[in-house]
Amino acid sequence: MAVITNIEDLRILAKKRVPRMFYDYADSGSWTESTYRANQEEFGRLKLRQRVAVNIDNRSLRTQMIGQDVAMPVALAPTGLTGMQHADGEILAARAAEKLGVPFTLSTMSICSIEDVAAHTKAPFWFQLYVMRDRDFIERLIERARAARCSALMLTLDLQILGQRHKDLKNGLSAPPKPTLANMLNLATKPRWGLGMLGTRRRHFGNIVGHVKGVENMGSLSAWTSQQFDPRLNWNDVAWIKKLWGGKLILKGIMDAEDARLAADSGADALIVSNHGGRQLDGAPSSISALPPIVDAVGSRIEVWMDGGIRSGQDVLKAVALGAKGTLIGRPFLYGLGAMGEAGVTKCLEIIRNELDLTMAFCGLTDIRQVNRGVLLNPPW
Ligand code: GLV
Repeated sequence: MAVITNIEDLRILAKKRVPRMFYDYADSGSWTESTYRANQEEFGRLKLRQRVAVNIDNRSLRTQMIGQDVAMPVALAPTGLTGMQHADGEILAARAAEKLGVPFTLSTMSICSIEDVAAHTKAPFWFQLYVMRDRDFIERLIERARAARCSALMLTLDLQILGQRHKDLKNGLSAPPKPTLANMLNLATKPRWGLGMLGTRRRHFGNIVGHVKGVENMGSLSAWTSQQFDPRLNWNDVAWIKKLWGGKLILKGIMDAEDARLAADSGADALIVSNHGGRQLDGAPSSISALPPIVDAVGSRIEVWMDGGIRSGQDVLKAVALGAKGTLIGRPFLYGLGAMGEAGVTKCLEIIRNELDLTMAFCGLTDIRQVNRGVLLNPPW
């Protein structure tokens, strides 16, 4: 096997090993994918200021996100169907995150359940919540997250309806995959994945199947979203959830300074500048370009984080330079998971950590907590 030295290597290997419908689900964006592409491209437009002859011994990447110690300002983003990239995917990713000292976020739409991840990890993880029409179910989910000792709740605000993702529609995305001829032919070329899946019971949406009356077999994310996600979600619901949960609250999916002000008014602990990895509103700006005006508007009142387009430690440094107190990575760790299971997620985090450390050194920086806009030459926004 080729030597893995960067996130792109993991992506290429994941593409070989993961069934097409799940690789495509993770890898693609909505509609024309213009926002998905912009997320990465606009990181590339930011240029770093090289400094020399500065004592760069003893560098530190350690910081805090919502008061929790982290080995670097990076957390694993909540991603749906993670346990379909690799058998037991959420448990494996959570373990890798725990070993590297970064937070793991479990999606509502995970394959392994909250209880299952808690039973197989030691460090508390974060739980991501989608608001559904069935409020009793939401109350139970929040209770389950509390019982599992989750240390923060991450409420997603930008996916009450699903962006149109052409590949998912064409592939007939479902979990587990339907036994159609096309699926069978594709699965036959992914023996490692298949063996892993034969060895696990975790093949359904673990937080939902068996927990909602009448839902014994929920295959499709798109059908579930259109039937169950509540399009009436508004700031009153945010207040209701904050009260119900009572702990650290993170709001995900903010792209606008006015919404950021409302998020800060809500009393949440952090907000995430995010266009959902270019999977929702195609045509929205890149996350990195949306970050500075939001930091300027509310950065003194609420922790501002960002996600979308990070493919290296350099990107993390650029986000921190523009005011993000933390970042989240989704696809990079999914590529690692699909490529090599837990070892691949570990590899992904090690790559990002190493790139962040080296980039800081070349820029003459020794402490991530002191990084500011001065490390960027001519930020375009
Ligand atoms: C979220 O669940 C997504 O598919 O983007």
